[in-house]
Amino acid sequence: MIVKSLSVANFRNYQQEKIDFSENTNVIYGNNAQGKTNLLEAVYLFSHGKSHRAKSDSELVRFGQDFARLTLEFADKDRDLKAVFYLEANGKKRVKINNVPITKLSMLMRYLNVVMFSPEDLDIIKGAPQVRRKFLDEAISQLYPVYLKTLISYHKNLAQKNNLLKKLRLAGKTDDDMLSVWNEQIAEDGSKIMEYRRDFVDAISRFASEIHKNISGEKLDLCYMPSVECDEINKENFLAKLNQGMAREIENGSSLYGIQRDDLRLYINDREAKIYASQGQQRTAVLSLKMAQMEHINETRGEYPVLLLDDIMSELDISRRQFLTEKIKGKQVIITCTDIEDETPDATAFFKVESGKIIKGMNEL
Ligand SMILES: Nc1ncnc2c1ncn2[C@@H]1O[C@H](COP(=O)(O)OP(=O)(O)O)[C@@H](O)[C@H]1O
Ligand SMILES: [Mg+2]
Repeated sequence: MIVKSLSVANFRNYQQEKIDFSENTNVIYGNNAQGKTNLLEAVYLFSHGKSHRAKSDSELVRFGQDFARLTLEFADKDRDLKAVFYLEANGKKRVKINNVPITKLSMLMRYLNVVMFSPEDLDIIKGAPQVRRKFLDEAISQLYPVYLKTLISYHKNLAQKNNLLKKLRLAGKTDDDMLSVWNEQIAEDGSKIMEYRRDFVDAISRFASEIHKNISGEKLDLCYMPSVECDEINKENFLAKLNQGMAREIENGSSLYGIQRDDLRLYINDREAKIYASQGQQRTAVLSLKMAQMEHINETRGEYPVLLLDDIMSELDISRRQFLTEKIKGKQVIITCTDIEDETPDATAFFKVESGKIIKGMNEL
C-alpha cells in the first residue's frame, strides 16, 4: 500500500497543508512540538478511523475551529483511492472513499493498512495487560473488521452484565435469569475473540521469533494468556467457566472472567520480558513485534502496510537501526525525527515541519 498525498485543513496545529509522499522512505523532521507526529496521526486516522493517541476526536480539530478536513490519496495493488475525512469539533466524524460515504469506520481498515511504531510502544512490554490487549485488538481489527464488530458487541453485553452484577450484589441476591442471557452472548462473542487472538499470536509469533533472533541472537516467544482457560476454545467451554464463576461474580459485583482480562506474555530466552528484560532488550522485542505485524499483514493481504515510525530511530543503536533500514527497503515508510543526521541513508523525501507548516525538499534544509 502506498500513501500518495495528504492534505490537512484545521487539523491539530495545521491550518492548510499538503504533503506529497515518496513511495520509499519519507523523513519528516523538525524541533519538538512542531507537528511531526500530527502528520503520522493523520495518516493513521485513515486506517483506524481514530487517532492512535487522542482521548477524544474533538482534540484533533484545530483550536478555535468548527471542523477539520483531511484528504488522503493512496493506492493498493489494484487501484487508486481517495478518502476524505471530516471531523467536527463536537466529535462527529464522516468519511468518504472515492466519494462514497463509509457508514462504519471499521470498514476503513479494508482500504488502508498502517503499522505505527513509537517510543510509547515500549508499554506493550512494560505496561499493564490492557496495553497488550489494545495492541492485539487494533492489529487484529485491522485485518478482520468482523473482529472489531464482535469486540464491540462483547463489551456492550459485558457492560450490561456488570450493571446487573452490581445490582444483585446490592440487593443481596444470588441469581437472576438475565445473567444467563448476558453470559450466553458473552460466551458466544468471547470464544470467537479468543480464537482470533490465539491465531493472531501464533501467526506473528513465528515472524517475531525469527526477526528477533536475527537482530539480537536471542530467543523471543509470545504466549497468549486467555483469562478463560480451556482445552478447546468454544462457546460451550467459555460458558461453562462463566457459570462456574457466577456466584463469585455476584459476590464481587462485577465480572471476573472473560477476554477483558486476557494478556499476552513475551519471553526473552525463556524469561518474562516485562520482569527481566533490560530497556534495550524490551525495545528490541517491540521492534520485532512491529516488524512481525508488518510481515503478517503482507502474508494475509498480499501487500505491505505503510509503516509509520515516530521518533524511534534515535532510540535504536547502530546495529538495530541498520537492521530496520534493511527490513524496510522497498516498502513505504514515513519517519519522524528531530535530528536529520540520525536518519536512514535510503530516505528519498524530506519534509521540514515548523509550527504547523511544511517546508519540502532537501535543498531547502
Ligand atoms: N487541536 C489543536 N489545535 C492546535 N494545535 C494543536 C492541537 N493539538 C495539538 N496542537 C499542537 O501541536 C503541537 C504538537 O504536535 P506534535 O505533532 O505532537 O509535535 P512533534 O513535532 O513534537 O511530533 C503542539 O504545539 C500542540 O500545542
Ligand atoms: Mg512527536
